[in-house]
Amino acid sequence: MKRTHHCNELRPEHAGRTVTLVGWVHSRRDLGGVIFIDLRDREGRTQTVFDPSALSAEVFERASRLRSESVIEITGRVRVRPPGTENPKIATGQIEVLAQSLTVLNEAEVLPFPVDDPEIASKVNEELRLQYRYLDLRRPEMARHLRLRARVASATRAFFEEQGFIEVETPILFKSTPEGAREFLVPNRREPGTFYALPQSPQQFKQILMVAGVERYYQLARCFRDEDQRADRQLEFTQIDVEMSFIEREDLYAVIEGLLQRIWKVALNLDIPTPFPRLKFQEAMNRFGTDKPDTRFGLELVDFTEEFRGSAFKVFSGAVAAGGVVKALNAKGLAGVTQGQIETMTDYAKSFGAKGLAYIKVEGGEWKSPIVKFFSDAEKAALQSKLGIEEGDLILFAADQWLTACEILGRIRLYCAELLRAAGQLTFEPNRFDFLWVVDFPLLSFDKEQNRWYSSHHPFTAPVAEDIPLLKSDPKKVRGQHYDLVVNGVELGGGSIRIHQPEVQKLVFEEVLQIPPDVVKARFGYMLEAFKYGAPPHGGIALGFDRLVAILCGTPSIRDVIAFPKTAKGVCLMTQSPAPADPKQLRELHLEIKAPKKPSGGKTD
Ligand code: AMO
Ligand code: AMP
Repeated sequence: MKRTHHCNELRPEHAGRTVTLVGWVHSRRDLGGVIFIDLRDREGRTQTVFDPSALSAEVFERASRLRSESVIEITGRVRVRPPGTENPKIATGQIEVLAQSLTVLNEAEVLPFPVDDPEIASKVNEELRLQYRYLDLRRPEMARHLRLRARVASATRAFFEEQGFIEVETPILFKSTPEGAREFLVPNRREPGTFYALPQSPQQFKQILMVAGVERYYQLARCFRDEDQRADRQLEFTQIDVEMSFIEREDLYAVIEGLLQRIWKVALNLDIPTPFPRLKFQEAMNRFGTDKPDTRFGLELVDFTEEFRGSAFKVFSGAVAAGGVVKALNAKGLAGVTQGQIETMTDYAKSFGAKGLAYIKVEGGEWKSPIVKFFSDAEKAALQSKLGIEEGDLILFAADQWLTACEILGRIRLYCAELLRAAGQLTFEPNRFDFLWVVDFPLLSFDKEQNRWYSSHHPFTAPVAEDIPLLKSDPKKVRGQHYDLVVNGVELGGGSIRIHQPEVQKLVFEEVLQIPPDVVKARFGYMLEAFKYGAPPHGGIALGFDRLVAILCGTPSIRDVIAFPKTAKGVCLMTQSPAPADPKQLRELHLEIKAPKKPSGGKTD
């Protein structure tokens, strides 16, 4: 192409020059016999003018027939726009190009949706946008996301290089890993009945790389998990994956805080303060009812277990007698909710296992509630003082086992925050990022249905050293050296210091997690073997790269920062994948399809 400038380059000082621009017809306006064409390329827009008195009739005729999004080349002379016609909204708004020639490089058909008007484009149904993703990606907003993503990837690489990390690629064709999600299997043509699995993360390889002496590894790693898709989850996604030898937790926090500082500076020109606060899991649950608290607002949970231990209100005293707790939160300013809204909230709480959602509305100087009649004066006084109750407040309660009660009120806390946001009573500064580390998770959680312990994070996470003796005697008390990185209520990453002693790893697999020894050998034998030959102490983390970029772009959905994402049903609407396989391919793979074919849909959430 003979392009001399891109479409965001020309300024008044270029006036008088003859230039050639290429790009897409962003818009066309006919004004009193003169045609204005806004030409757009990746960098921006330039107004071009087709004046019939300064052009051959043929060129003018061609310009008048141009359709939106056709690809053209224009040669013309730059001139300063007449006073009053400048466009301050675009960088080239001081000038225009008086066209002399026009070549149509490719004519576009009428588009399924317009890409020139951000207002209309943002209302286009997402399925249509995904089907014509190449058009969607032409929208400046989406183009900005892709560029920011690339800049952040490049800043990440530069940071790790400077810090002495080595980027290593790990296999995509792997075998089953124990990280909890369902996996994608790939049949092996060479040996019928055997399968590769796509990696849920490079966890095992990165640990083996530590045994291999790499010491500092990183990778922008593609991961695959066949789990339900949501706005913050895709079947395939990218992690900034990190592992380091000879470190303790604090060393890792410092590296990752440095990385995020760099990224926030490069992407948003913001200086984020470090170190990030550390919050113990127990405290996060107690105060916010979640292990990924959004600390940009209060509405904290308050404990009333002791106050209601002997209460006449049996719902509360009964829960305490059963070993549970009573917790409450004060949704300030929400007393005006309707009975219908209370019911919706109660149903929502029930969907997370609540037995009910007791409440008090403080209106007209009165505590309006079906339950206060059961409360003693001392109980009321305790509520009053610990919750700072005032006119206009809505108090909500959960009485249940500790974790359940916390989780229910944690959900209700977010629900109330949304109501307050919608009513304009709660606002966040756009540049506010509340980072924190959540630490001291329990190493194990108990699965009641299967009557056994499972790893809260993954089975390679090391117990806190002084808790190792409790592994067999009192597993629930064992803390893991696991940490999560949270920002504005989003789980951005998670990692841990790992077990590096083969005997501790074996104990965790076989005696704590009760995985039969033959299964351990088949699945992790190579790891236990590797650990026998000099495994350094090590630990690491993985940050969700898509989530990170979505936060930087200020969008709630990671689909907006992935070039070709899949729908909630796991479908790529542009390529129509997944698709049936050719019978010949199936034969080669020794596969036979038994299930009836179902139509696939493309709904997004
Ligand atoms: P974990 O499973 O916590 O840890 O994952 C780390 C981070 O990856 C992101 N993430 C996802 N992003 C988009 N779509 C998904 N389906 C998805 N699943 C996870 C999240 C999450 O915090 N191997 C360990 C890390 C380690 O121990 O070093 C791991 O994968 O942001
Ligand atoms: P009940 O005695 O079941 O009619 O409940 C009285 C009130 O307490 C209702 O508003 C219920 O929604 C609420 N409630 C019932 N069980 C619980 C619980 N476990 N935690 C909090 N509120 C509850």
